[in-house]
Amino acid sequence: MKLSWQLLQDLEQKHGGCFYLLDLSKFKDNYCQFLGSFRSIYQNTNIGYSYKTNYIPRICQSVYELGGYAEVVSQMEYDLAIKIGVPPARIIFNGPLKYPRDLERAVIAGSTVNLDSLQEVQIICELAQKLPAQQISVGLRCNFDIGTDLISRFGLDVENGDLDYIFEKFKELGNCHVKGLHCHFTTAQRSLESYALRAKKIIETTDKYFPDRPPEFIDVGGGYFGHMDEDLRQQFDFYIPTYQEYAEVIATQFKQRFTGDLQPELIIEPGVALVANVMKFVGKVVALKTIRSRHLALVTGSIHTVKPSKQLPLTVYKNESNHAHIESNTPIDLVGYTCMEHDCLYPAYPVPVSVGDYTVFDNVGAYSVVFKPPFIWPSPPIVSYDSTTNIYTLARRQETTQDVFATYEI
Ligand SMILES: Cc1ncc(COP(=O)(O)O)c(C=O)c1O
Repeated sequence: MKLSWQLLQDLEQKHGGCFYLLDLSKFKDNYCQFLGSFRSIYQNTNIGYSYKTNYIPRICQSVYELGGYAEVVSQMEYDLAIKIGVPPARIIFNGPLKYPRDLERAVIAGSTVNLDSLQEVQIICELAQKLPAQQISVGLRCNFDIGTDLISRFGLDVENGDLDYIFEKFKELGNCHVKGLHCHFTTAQRSLESYALRAKKIIETTDKYFPDRPPEFIDVGGGYFGHMDEDLRQQFDFYIPTYQEYAEVIATQFKQRFTGDLQPELIIEPGVALVANVMKFVGKVVALKTIRSRHLALVTGSIHTVKPSKQLPLTVYKNESNHAHIESNTPIDLVGYTCMEHDCLYPAYPVPVSVGDYTVFDNVGAYSVVFKPPFIWPSPPIVSYDSTTNIYTLARRQETTQDVFATYEI
């Protein structure tokens, strides 16, 4: 995607004062590279793309076209997968809250539902009793110690007897079985050690509960880092692993443990790793001011549109015809449209900016559009770039006042 001030102005005139840019081919490249790294070691690997990280339908459709699963954690996301044509059997339904009707429907339709609590197990047992002729299969989300201080709240403790109870109960029922085990942990460092440990522990749990024959799948969840520029990488005070390194610590253990015909499908559920670097946010500088010693530039965006947990890579495209910038080498705070004092998209930007310049923030693809609240401004449009035709098309239109208030009684 080769950007220029002129191109950004054309896009602004067409789509509005600020917008996201989506590079779908970059997403597909990430997908193929990530999967390729795992498959080069353990062929029977598949991706379940985490919809919640960024559920732009075009991204989700690409996942389906590339042969991946839809990894969803709500009925809303499940409905989206069905709407874009994903067959139920290609949907993995995770998450702590699944209403009984949604859970039952998904299981009967043939989706993989990973149960998160004994209450969900109970719903499945009642369903099995109601439908004795129906074979019911589910996955179980497992929770074990991976050496972090925080005790994760998700899944079933593999050490307190809950799994023994479930396997026993399903045996009694006769028409219920566990087709696979799942786990997912989010850790700050997303380190190779933690992945090595989770792969080891889920394989050990599998060995305990499937002594004769491995299950259909073992799902090790998501939480991996993706590609990032050197500037961003430098802001972490720990090592950022590559796709290949994640594959080596996980897939190698699968290759060593499972040989011949008895190779369970290894499922990985990346979100951030595939989507973070495939979107940019474009905001325009619309006002400059200096208050005592502080220089400020107002940008048509906010921390709610870019979600900066680190200082995101920023490129400013200068409006060459406008020379009215703050005459100072003092850094400028690029601030957003909300009334929150801390709404600063880039503190102390070191280069002068002018009204009419475009600020382009990179790496905004993960947990951004899905997290944007309707606080003060509706959501910006999403413009999708096709690198084969060089054409920009709308992936989501600008949200309107009417959209925001449509569900209220007025
Ligand atoms: C079950 C599950 N799978 C996958 C993911 C994706 O995580 P990430 O976007 O960090 O890769 C999450 C995120 O919380 C999750 O809860």
